[in-house]
This record gives sequence, C-alpha cells and structure tokens, in this order.
Amino acid sequence: MIRIRVLNGSNLNLLGTREPGVYGTQTLQDIKSRLEEEASAYSIELDFYQSNHEGDIVDRIHEAYHKGYNGIIINPGAFTHYSYAIRDAISATNISTIEVHLSNIHAREEFRSRSVIAPVCMGQICGLGSDAYSAALFVLHRRFQS
Ligand code: DQA
Repeated sequence: MIRIRVLNGSNLNLLGTREPGVYGTQTLQDIKSRLEEEASAYSIELDFYQSNHEGDIVDRIHEAYHKGYNGIIINPGAFTHYSYAIRDAISATNISTIEVHLSNIHAREEFRSRSVIAPVCMGQICGLGSDAYSAALFVLHRRFQS
C-alpha cells in the first residue's frame, strides 16, 4: 500500500478564522477529512500533521523516511520562505515531496514569492485553495500506482 504523509507548518491550525479572504473558510480538519476520503478511494494510507515548530516538521520528515513512506505533501506555511532545515531534511531523505499552498504566493508580498523548499520538491502547487492538496495527492497516486 502506498503511504503518504501530509505536513502542515506554522499557523495552519488557525485556518477557518485566519484571514479568510486569503485562506478561505475551511478548517484544517475540513481539509484533512476530504483528503482522507480521497486517499481511501485511491487505496492510499495517509497521515496528516500540523505543527508550529520547525524541528517537529523536520522530525516528521525523518520519521517518514525511516518508516518507508512513499511521499510527502507539505504546506510549510511561513517556513516555506526561510527554513533551510526543512529543505535539507527533504533533500537528505530524498522522499518524493510536493509543496502546496492555499494562496498564490507569487501574487502576494514579495517575501512570499521565494520558496527555499520548492527546489528540492517534485513541484509546487499554489493559488488553488485546498484543491492543491487534492491535486498533489492525485499526482502521487499516479506516480506510485502499479
Ligand atoms: C501559505 C503561504 C505562506 O506564505 C504563509 O506563511 C502561510 C500559508 C499558504 O498556504 O498559502 O502560512 O503556506
């Protein structure tokens, strides 16, 4: 069975009430529930985490590697723009990773348009709201289905 880990960084626990004009009104729990349904339709085993702490995200990436996960979907939140530790964890473990964002980071403040993580990912999906997570899951399903 294909196993995918979904990681969410800082402040994503506040979705639903956090700047709804930018991030929408869905909560992280809403996104999780929908993704779990989609994963089960693909027969993918999925787990879903959120942390406000950079080191926790690094630990979850290491753990996914040691446990033999097939892929990671990551919305690093603001870590996107400066976390060399998360970038290095992805390149050190070489797990197939897709970076996702709810908002279009290229259409906002200038500091958001640079991701230090995207260069070590398969790709980046942004600006499509929570469909980014579904699109990333679809791509990983396509890559790993036998
Ligand atoms: C975000 C975009 C980031 O710039 C921001 O810091 C977030 C959310 C998004 O999903 O659009 O926390 O990753």
